[in-house]
Amino acid sequence: MAQRILSGVQSSGRLHLGNYYGAIREFVRLQDEGEALYFIANYHALTSVRDAALARRLTFETAVAFLALGLDPARATLFRQSDVPEIGELYWVLGTVVPLSNLHRAHSFKDKVNNKGIEDPEFGLFAYPVLMAADILLYDSDVVPVGRDQRQHLEFARDWATKFNMRYVPGYDPQEPERVPGVFKLPSVRTRDETAVVPGRDGQKMSKSYGNTVDLFAPEREVEKQIKSVKTDSTPPDQPKPTENQPLYQLLKLVLPEPAFADADRAWRTGGDPKTNGYGYFKGLLFEGYRQAFGTARARYDELLQDPAEVERTLASGAQRARAFAAPVIRRVRDAVGL
Ligand code: ADP
Ligand code: TRP
Repeated sequence: MAQRILSGVQSSGRLHLGNYYGAIREFVRLQDEGEALYFIANYHALTSVRDAALARRLTFETAVAFLALGLDPARATLFRQSDVPEIGELYWVLGTVVPLSNLHRAHSFKDKVNNKGIEDPEFGLFAYPVLMAADILLYDSDVVPVGRDQRQHLEFARDWATKFNMRYVPGYDPQEPERVPGVFKLPSVRTRDETAVVPGRDGQKMSKSYGNTVDLFAPEREVEKQIKSVKTDSTPPDQPKPTENQPLYQLLKLVLPEPAFADADRAWRTGGDPKTNGYGYFKGLLFEGYRQAFGTARARYDELLQDPAEVERTLASGAQRARAFAAPVIRRVRDAVGL
C-alpha cells in the first residue's frame, strides 16, 4: 500500500523562504511518493492570531500559497484543519494519556513563552503538542516531514500513541508493533538535514516571530528591501569572504540554481574586482535568483487570490477526503476506550 504522508503549516503569518526550503518544497516533492495529505493548521494558528478576519484571510492565503508553490490537488489532499471535526474528539481522548511532565519540557512552548515574554501563557499554547499529535494519528500517517524544530513534537506523538496502544490493546508489544496491531500507527519523522534550518536576515533561524524573514509573496519592492538588509560583515569588496555564519552565502546557496551558485561561490571566495564582488553585488544576485525561483509561483498566487471560489472547492473536496481517512481511526478509538 502507498505510504501515507502528512504534514501541516500554521496559518499564522506570511510564508517565507524558511517555510519553503524547510517544509513546502519537500511536501511538493513527496506528493509523487505516496498518498499525501497536507493541511492548514488554522486551529493551531488561533494560539497567536486573535482577530477573526485576519485568521480567515491567513488561512486562505496559506492555501493559495500551497497551490501556487506546486501542490497539485489531483495528486495530494489539501484541507483546512478545522474542516475535520473529528480532530477535536481525538485531541480530548489522547489528552487522557499525555503525561503533564512531557508538556512541561516541550521546547516550542518554552521558546514561545520566553521569546515573547508571555507572563500568563494559555492552556491552548501549552496543549499545542497534543493537538499536533492528534493531527498526525488521526490519519494513520506513515511519514511526517517537518523541520528540525518540530522533531520533539513528533517524538511525543510516537510516545503517546505507544502509551495509548499499550493501555487499550491487549497483547500490544511496542517492540513488535506488527504482531498485534495498535489502535494508532506509529509515524516516522523525516527531516532534511542539509536545509534543516534556513537562516534569517540576521543569521538566526528565519522565523516570522524574529522579524528576520525574506517573504515568498510580499510585494517585490519589500522583498528587495528585505534582501538588502541581510547581515554581512566588514570584509572589503576585493577580499575573499568567509563562508561560515554568513546568512547571505547560505541563502545564495539555497536560492540560486547550481551553475549560477558555482559562479557566485567562486567570486565570493576569491575577492578580486571590488565593483563586482562586494556584498551589494551578491545581494543583487540573491534578489535576481529569488525572482527567477519564485516568479511563476508569484504569478500563480496573484491569479488564485482572484479566484476564491476555486480555492474553496479544492479545500472542500480535500476535507471530504481527509474525513474519509479519519473515519476508521476514530471508530477504532471510540471502540477501544468505550465511547
Ligand atoms: P515561523 O518560525 O516563521 O513561525 P512556522 O513555525 O510556522 O514558522 O513553520 C512552518 C514550517 O516551516 C515548519 O515545518 C517549520 O519547520 C518550517 N520552518 C520554519 N522556519 C524555518 C527555517 N528557518 N528553516 C527551516 N524550516 C523552517
Ligand atoms: N506545529 C507545526 C508547525 O508549527 C504545524 C503542524 C500542526 C503540524 N500539526 C501538524 C506539522 C502535524 C506536521 C504534522 O510548523
